[in-house]
Amino acid sequence: MYLAPSPQIAVLWIHIIAACVWIGGQITLGMLVPLLRFDRDLVLAAARRFGWLGWSAFAVLIVTGVINMHEIGVSFTHLNATPTSRTLSLKLTLVIISGLAAAAHSLLPRLMQEGTARRALTGILAVLALLAALGAAFYGVVIAEH
Ligand code: HEM
Repeated sequence: MYLAPSPQIAVLWIHIIAACVWIGGQITLGMLVPLLRFDRDLVLAAARRFGWLGWSAFAVLIVTGVINMHEIGVSFTHLNATPTSRTLSLKLTLVIISGLAAAAHSLLPRLMQEGTARRALTGILAVLALLAALGAAFYGVVIAEH
């Protein structure tokens, strides 16, 4: 006899896989870019390919996250009502920071002149997107374990 999976577990599983893609993709791309720097076209091609995969994973995180919220009985109108919903608010703030930092990071080349300032800001935004996503994952586990 094995433990039986349920539809809720399948949704949580998809949520975790999407988190792996969002976080793992950022780490992989972050490690590849310095190696590919000699060929700008290659960097752009790798970034575009990850962009497609990463934003798809982010969209999946939002859809499955809303279903998870429903499963644990938290609604957007009561995000300050209980310790669980307050922890979820903190997690959602980190999700927003991660998404905004990743979007700003990828739009920066179109908004700023090439140079040291742009390179520094692009790096800071990439680190922020990753750290915020790691924080969101951490608070996700905290919620799931309570
Ligand atoms: C950067 C985006 C996100 C990441 C990296 C992330 C990651 C995670 C992880 C790793 C877990 C733990 C699962 C477990 O231990 O079983 C989790 C749980 C959870 N996540 Fe997310 N998540 C993200 C976005 C969202 C969003 C946008 C929402 C809501 C709209 C959400 C709602 C939840 C809920 C409610 C749980 C707890 C599920 C349960 O207890 O069954 N997440 N998340």
